[in-house]
Amino acid sequence: PQEDEKQMIQAHELLSKFYHHLLLNTKEGQEALEYLLSRGFTTESISKFQIGWSLPSWDFTVKFLQKRGYSLELMEAAGLLVRREKDQSFLDRFRGRIMFPITDPKGKVVAFSGRSLHSGDEPKYLNSPETKIFNKSRILYNYHESRTIIRRKQQVILFEGFADVISANEASVENGVATMGTSLTEGQIGLIKRLTESVVICYDGDSAGVEAAFRAGNLLLNHHLSIRVAMIPEKLDPDDYISKYGKEKFQQDVIGASLTFMAFKLRYYKLNKNLNDEGDRLQYIEDILKEITQLSNAVERDYYLRYLADEFHVSLEALQQQLADIKGSMK
Ligand code: GTP
Ligand code: MN
Ligand code: MN
Ligand code: MN
Ligand code: MN
Repeated sequence: PQEDEKQMIQAHELLSKFYHHLLLNTKEGQEALEYLLSRGFTTESISKFQIGWSLPSWDFTVKFLQKRGYSLELMEAAGLLVRREKDQSFLDRFRGRIMFPITDPKGKVVAFSGRSLHSGDEPKYLNSPETKIFNKSRILYNYHESRTIIRRKQQVILFEGFADVISANEASVENGVATMGTSLTEGQIGLIKRLTESVVICYDGDSAGVEAAFRAGNLLLNHHLSIRVAMIPEKLDPDDYISKYGKEKFQQDVIGASLTFMAFKLRYYKLNKNLNDEGDRLQYIEDILKEITQLSNAVERDYYLRYLADEFHVSLEALQQQLADIKGSMK
């Protein structure tokens, strides 16, 4: 019950400090630390985000917890340990991984994600399972830590990954949170709405990221949030972009140049289409008209109709007629 949850959280808090110490101050953590520094993370942000290192041992964490009197069954239920099939002995879940502590909205460490150090060690990120204290669909990475800044700026930036949040932070974009690779949930939208109505989606520039941005944006729209999309070129992700082009360009050319959700959709529907092809061109017009029917603002509807008319040399009357047909067929 409540006492169990308290113990689970306490163990996470303790381990998080210890993993961080191993990374920063020991020989065992040296390779991982060098990897992080070589990626461009600063020691300041390694400390700020309390990044750590779990030893490549089967029972380091088991012994650490046992020594401090924690019930190993409870620590298994907390996701920190797993059990060996054949003899039911306890083993460390996280072995030889870069540890990202994940906090709940109150700021308590309730889970970890461990990144492998060597490519080929699958999975790339190993997460804590769902537990009494870790409900994935109600957690955003860096939510607690950024909530004051999000409130003050009245804007949140939504990233996919840990590295994106941390690099953006180094670029003075401190109102970032991450969904940690899964699709945005209603619970996470609830968390956002406590702080602000305005969201900038800044997902990876690959096609998976663009598709995810489209879906996340539509979900946010259903919840009446105001949405912009910051697009990353060359299939980079925000962290890659900052490493390659620097902080200023990230602030100005990515975050500062974010698109309204509708402007993003105008681009989105062009992907995988050849607008020199008549069939594709007509399909594109149809796609955008469908989106226009969703707009609640009459001025916006008019604006995008005129845009289509200009761009594709069709008459406003024809577009309005087709818009009416689409509306009719959607009833
Ligand atoms: P880096 O390679 O360290 O830069 O990570 P990334 O954040 O760019 O990874 P990617 O874009 O592939 O994934 C985005 C986010 O999805 C990560 O930050 C993780 O939270 C999550 N993720 C990625 N790979 C895995 C995986 O193998 N398992 C799980 N459970 N989550 C993952
Ligand atoms: Mn970086
Ligand atoms: Mn990705
Ligand atoms: Mn990525
Ligand atoms: Mn990355």
